[in-house]
Amino acid sequence: MLRESNSSNPGVNLNLSHMTPKSVPMPIYMDHNATTPVDPRVSQAMAPFLAEQFGNASSSSHAFGWQAQAAVKKAREQVAALLSCRAADVIWTSGATESNNLALLGVVRAFCSPAVRGGEKPHIITQVTEHKAVLEVLDAALEWGAEVTVLGVDQEGLISLAELEKAFRPSTVMVSIMMANNEIGAVQPVAEIGEMCNKRGVIFHTDAAQSACKYAFNLQSLKIDMLSLSGHKVYAPKGVGALIVRKINREFTLKPILFGGEQEQRLRPGTLNVPGIVGFGEACAVAALDIKEECKRLHAYQKQILDAVAAFPRVKINGPLKNRLCNNLSFSFPDLPPDDLVLGLSGVAYSSGSACNSSNPRPSHVLKAMGLDDQLARSTLRLGLGRFTTDEEVSVVIDKLVKMLGKAYGAKGTATVQPL
Ligand SMILES: Cc1ncc(COP(=O)(O)O)c(C=O)c1O
Repeated sequence: MLRESNSSNPGVNLNLSHMTPKSVPMPIYMDHNATTPVDPRVSQAMAPFLAEQFGNASSSSHAFGWQAQAAVKKAREQVAALLSCRAADVIWTSGATESNNLALLGVVRAFCSPAVRGGEKPHIITQVTEHKAVLEVLDAALEWGAEVTVLGVDQEGLISLAELEKAFRPSTVMVSIMMANNEIGAVQPVAEIGEMCNKRGVIFHTDAAQSACKYAFNLQSLKIDMLSLSGHKVYAPKGVGALIVRKINREFTLKPILFGGEQEQRLRPGTLNVPGIVGFGEACAVAALDIKEECKRLHAYQKQILDAVAAFPRVKINGPLKNRLCNNLSFSFPDLPPDDLVLGLSGVAYSSGSACNSSNPRPSHVLKAMGLDDQLARSTLRLGLGRFTTDEEVSVVIDKLVKMLGKAYGAKGTATVQPL
């Protein structure tokens, strides 16, 4: 029951369990590429900053501010430790969308000034399966005076390094290619791309929203100049993220795209989201504990599901078998009525593609770029495994998939896929 409010206690009882029908069980969560639950260790670390430690990290004249500053400093160090960069390279943002905007438009702002390049338009290279948080930003960059080349991908969703080589121009200032794709898990060859950019003095930005904390990489061995991160993909809350800006390979100018304060080296104004930042730092520290073992565990689940589905040769497995995120699976089902998918996987929370596009009836731009037709692209299942996924949940999902596919395509064959 909602407590009645009165003048001495306007209190609202935030326990809303009375509104949730107890007979409706929550589905098995298999959509970790859309978002992840907050890890209890993360919410525990955040709790004091939602209560008594409420200071503003920009307040330097009292203990409340100092507490907040110390917490933000610790979080910066936790992020830096996971990625092997410097704490000073971490610029807090509200998420990967904002980080991508800052990286791309911040460079365009720096280079579009006629005084900088004598009126020559800066050229940026990207690729077709990027998240909209890159592609639509680059649409805006065109309006701001940049030129953009969008590379295609092969049937597995990977770019060709030879195509990239050909796309460089004397006016190329930046390459933005994601580390791993959110729909099909394809991991792009960022080490090689970084070397190619570095040789030419071109800035390399990568959107690592899906790969951080799921894929062990070390920035010390990669020529990446800027990298976008998102809290809610790594078991921290929504509304926090970071742009890593490393000027270790070369000096370059990044201009702010928001104005109104001096925070974050004058690159991102606004009062810092201290609880979110503390959570993000803790999430990175938790991931660092066992990132390789956790990846192995998810990889084993991924392989079990893949083997079960591959026994139905009509099913199309989207994305590469190697060079793939350990937590992602994407399948397309020819001639499967959409209702059969919904019924077959009832009790499972999955998606058909990017969560950001789930209200868009158009087929996924990622799957289309890989050559799928509209029907196949629409009849697609994305499964995202995560830290709290259990053996039992994987078995239930496999069971449901095998029943659904058996009904649609007849008895299963014996095919097993090559090792991932
Ligand atoms: C690859 C990629 N980039 C960017 C984003 C946007 O991240 P955020 O929700 O933190 O703005 C997402 C989220 O789905 C993503 O998967």
